[in-house]
Amino acid sequence: MFTERVLSGMRPTGRLHLGHYHGVLKNWIKLQHEYECLFFVADWHALTTHYDTPDIIEQSVWDMVIDWLAAGVDPSRATLFIQSRVPEHAELHLLLSMMTPLGWLERMPTYKDQQEKLSGKDLSTYGFLGYPLLQAADILIYRANQVPVGEDQVPHIEFTRELARRFNHLYGREPGFEEKAEAAIKKLGGKRAKLYEELRTRYQQEGDEEALESARALLNDQHNLSLGDRERLFGYLEGGGKMILAEPQALLTAASKMPGLDGQKMSKSYNNTISLREDEDSVAKKIRTMPTDPARVRRTDPGTPSICPVWQFHLVYSEEGRKEWVRQGCTSAGIGCLECKQPVIDAVLEEQKPMRERAQMYMDDPTLVRNIISDGCEKARELASETMRDVREAMGLNYG
Ligand code: TRP
Ligand code: SF4
Repeated sequence: MFTERVLSGMRPTGRLHLGHYHGVLKNWIKLQHEYECLFFVADWHALTTHYDTPDIIEQSVWDMVIDWLAAGVDPSRATLFIQSRVPEHAELHLLLSMMTPLGWLERMPTYKDQQEKLSGKDLSTYGFLGYPLLQAADILIYRANQVPVGEDQVPHIEFTRELARRFNHLYGREPGFEEKAEAAIKKLGGKRAKLYEELRTRYQQEGDEEALESARALLNDQHNLSLGDRERLFGYLEGGGKMILAEPQALLTAASKMPGLDGQKMSKSYNNTISLREDEDSVAKKIRTMPTDPARVRRTDPGTPSICPVWQFHLVYSEEGRKEWVRQGCTSAGIGCLECKQPVIDAVLEEQKPMRERAQMYMDDPTLVRNIISDGCEKARELASETMRDVREAMGLNYG
């Protein structure tokens, strides 16, 4: 039984490349063995910046799912779905918008940054300002605890936490909350009930964070509680009302060490990528023509690996022994650059072989992919509807 739920999304804006694989997908593939995982295609998020070119999004949605599957995301372990196929995200986004202070959105560092970066496009739109709010709805609707993201997204997770807190504070008070919470404590059973009370007192009177953590762990282990009682007890711990939306945490992924072909960050806009399913000849050609230390004009000129993009690839793909061979060979002009590149070519091709095979299987039978996504969307909708029922009830919208 999993106690922690992981959720992450990716915007469909083009083919995935090795940077995505080493920076994000490898991590997802690891997480799917450790947590309950939900991974989704954030197509509405892509629309916030690509509203004028929606055809790119449409194409990228299926390509991206195939890229995930090719890389080793396992649909029997993780739930894969498309954001726009779970319209509950939009409903929560709307309801949260009622209580989201404008200042919180305007203050987001990504807001100004992206507007400046994509200056060719008019991003002074309502949808773009609401980008982090839509992301918050994505997370909160699944009551996800852990959200794997890169450094740049941490403010969005912090914003989501503040929003959850604000929501719970505004709407989490139900009539008879204390009595209901006390009744729920009894359902924990004698020993656990006593432990819960002790930990709660320690946290509330002494601010003991460890006690809070232990009490949360105790509740997480408690599978016989109803969802409502569970949330009451989580809320009661901190002295608030019922906890309707859960505060997530950012699960920081170490920044990808995968550089692009020119030594800059690998990125489509720098035109320095190797895509996940690039054909073999093209991979070999791109690496063979990579720039190297410019000081090595002739084969007999010694070089300096630390300023060579190929060396960065060795850092990702080579064992210590081979790195030593490069260091030695390069600085003494003992090896040529083409010789140095060959093991990198071999390693990338080797890494991509199973990906190419898996991708072929899905391309040969597109219904496989459609079915995986249909199943995932159905499962996601069930989870999302459960939260929406509670949200509507808390906001007094369950008339009609
Ligand atoms: N904003 C994220 C990115 O650009 C994508 C995203 C959308 C996301 N919704 C999310 C990530 C929810 C994590 C959780 O990378
Ligand atoms: Fe770069 Fe290797 Fe050539 Fe040295 S030998 S300059 S590390 S490609």
